[in-house]
Amino acid sequence: MATSEIAPDVSLVQAYPDAPALRFDNVSVGFEGKDVLENISFEVKRGETRILLGPAGVGKSVLLKLANGLIKPDSGRIYVFGFEITSMREEDLYPLRDCIGMVFQESALFDSLTVRDNVGYRLAEDHLPEDEIDRRVAQALCFVELDHTMDKYPSELSGGMRRRVAIARAIVSRPSLILYDSPTGGLDPITSTTIIELVIKQRDVYKTSSIIVTHRLQDAFMIVSHRFDCNTNKMEPLPPNQTDPQTSFLILHQGRLAFDGSTHDLIHSDDPFLKEYLS
Ligand SMILES: Nc1ncnc2c1ncn2[C@@H]1O[C@H](COP(=O)(O)OP(=O)(O)O)[C@@H](O)[C@H]1O
Ligand SMILES: [Mg+2]
Repeated sequence: MATSEIAPDVSLVQAYPDAPALRFDNVSVGFEGKDVLENISFEVKRGETRILLGPAGVGKSVLLKLANGLIKPDSGRIYVFGFEITSMREEDLYPLRDCIGMVFQESALFDSLTVRDNVGYRLAEDHLPEDEIDRRVAQALCFVELDHTMDKYPSELSGGMRRRVAIARAIVSRPSLILYDSPTGGLDPITSTTIIELVIKQRDVYKTSSIIVTHRLQDAFMIVSHRFDCNTNKMEPLPPNQTDPQTSFLILHQGRLAFDGSTHDLIHSDDPFLKEYLS
């Protein structure tokens, strides 16, 4: 499969070519009177991968839902490919949301649909011709190495396979930004590695901008210390002391961004909270 065949759609995404893929400007949100995120500002540049770390309940999933326009902030602005989405009407958001792939926590597949129909769901909603849907679904499933499961139902698959189907569903629309919510959550370490390998492959083959939520430091450090080799079709470690320059960290702590920076700066931080968190 030629990699150029799965290039992202570019029209909307290129309207403001100099704008970052995603920008939060002083964003706050709370629920039922309780603040969850307070004054959050950061960027995801084009082609950049941000690893979002933080304890359970800190607001990682909320942040991804804000980025996708699924929830609105109480204050602040959010820009997706340069478009200010905070004040956008829901129906104006649809085409932009088509440029974003979302891998939900727990995969969130439709149990009553086959793998093919799960992966092709959004394309069918967008009324693409059947043969085009079939072609794209086959490509996406091939990417996650599950092309043989097309006619199976989610209940017939293992947890790791379901997660790979969720990734295929997220990439089938050739998104320019992918939001992965805890893609290895609930998986054993070996299966987790196969998922992380897909994340790295997507980053290095398609240069997609992304946010990867995880609470597992070992996942985070695998992502920064490996690259995908298109010749061998395998993930391989970077040389010692080298980390992926396109990947950096965001760490949430008590509703605020406790860290926004490179792997090097994170590892060498003197901040007591970060030192404790990394130990
Ligand atoms: N729709 C909602 N209504 C009320 N509270 C919510 C809603 N979504 C998230 N929360 C609360 O926001 C906080 C952050 O949740 P979440 O982003 O899911 O955390 P995590 O970092 O584990 O992904 C939690 O206290 C959660 O209960
Ligand atoms: Mg979550």
